[in-house]
Amino acid sequence: MFNEQGKVKQVSMINYPDDNYEELKMKAQKCERCHLRAKCRQVVMGEGNTRRKIMFIGEGPGGDEDRQGRPFVGRAGQLLNKIFSAVNIKRENIYISNIVKCRPPDNRVPTWDEMDACAPILAAEIKIIEPKVIVPLGSTALKYLVDDNLAITRARGQWYNKGKLYFLPTFHPAYLLRNSNMKKYAWRDFKLIKKAIKRIDALKSSEKDL
Ligand code: URA
Repeated sequence: MFNEQGKVKQVSMINYPDDNYEELKMKAQKCERCHLRAKCRQVVMGEGNTRRKIMFIGEGPGGDEDRQGRPFVGRAGQLLNKIFSAVNIKRENIYISNIVKCRPPDNRVPTWDEMDACAPILAAEIKIIEPKVIVPLGSTALKYLVDDNLAITRARGQWYNKGKLYFLPTFHPAYLLRNSNMKKYAWRDFKLIKKAIKRIDALKSSEKDL
């Protein structure tokens, strides 16, 4: 999605408002740019604190998210909540979203075309939030946001940089539900993520002092 300078690569930047979050949300709710919308109940926008400069980005809504209209509220989301509280990150204080905002049928992995169709919404979220750090959750988000050639098992816990954007990928919580022996690595990653949040917050308060 991004080139090495951190600029959005492809996708027509069809006019999604990228300076007003509420307008963006309203417009995104009406999106019908790809065929996913016809098969799901609703568009599931990201949610959380748009001023914290850190974003967690998953793959796409599942069944629970599709029903409730909120990201990461199903089993994977509940595990993510547990991990957040273990490292003392308040979910309401970070922003969490997905690559695609409509549930792919049978929870299949979204196609590249579907991700491209949805990219203008994510690009607008990113433009509004101006995150210093993005945490891709799992392989799909890693490949789409950072590099298609990367494997999550090797890339997790490593920093990647594109222009002003810094990425720190970790496992998707749904993967951790299926592979609980991998939780120890996620634990390490989340400690790094917590450190990054502390650094971002310190930076913000020193900017305020200027
Ligand atoms: N998996 C995701 O990638 N996103 C959600 O919102 C829920 C499950």
